Amino acid sequence: MLELNINNEIHQVDAPDNMPILWVLRDLLNKKGTKFGCGIGQCGACTVHINGQAMRACITPVVVAKNAKITTIEGVDEKGQHPIQIAWKENNVPQCGYCQSGQIMSALTLLETNKNPSDDDINNHMSGNICRCGTYPRIKQAIKQAAAVLANNEGDK
Ligand code: FES
Ligand code: FES
Repeated sequence: MLELNINNEIHQVDAPDNMPILWVLRDLLNKKGTKFGCGIGQCGACTVHINGQAMRACITPVVVAKNAKITTIEGVDEKGQHPIQIAWKENNVPQCGYCQSGQIMSALTLLETNKNPSDDDINNHMSGNICRCGTYPRIKQAIKQAAAVLANNEGDK
């Protein structure tokens, strides 16, 4: 049995060490917010955080997350009130929606290190997250809005 911390909850899972985290999340724990796109680390649909780093859950063996903290889209804010989630809604970012949990998880790691990302910063950081619906302009807009709200919140402290 492996003990995993997922979104600050401890889960015991009966999984081989080399099972991709994506299968553990979706098939063993029924957490379906993290999506299966390509399965080979190329599209970003399966992005989760492990100790705050964006990782591809489809190619990351679950043993990597032992003694670490996994954050999935379900752990960002269960009521959907994180500034990035609000910005996503207000900018009508999702089309089919399939790639969007991965997009948000990647965007969050950008905002952790860059409080005021430029277009180029966003393009560079988000280049590994593919959207077949072409929502890139709205993603950019939403990231900038979230950055401004987070900076403002920071200023209020
Ligand atoms: S499903 Fe993991 S990168 Fe595409
Ligand atoms: S919103 Fe459809 S793939 Fe991105």
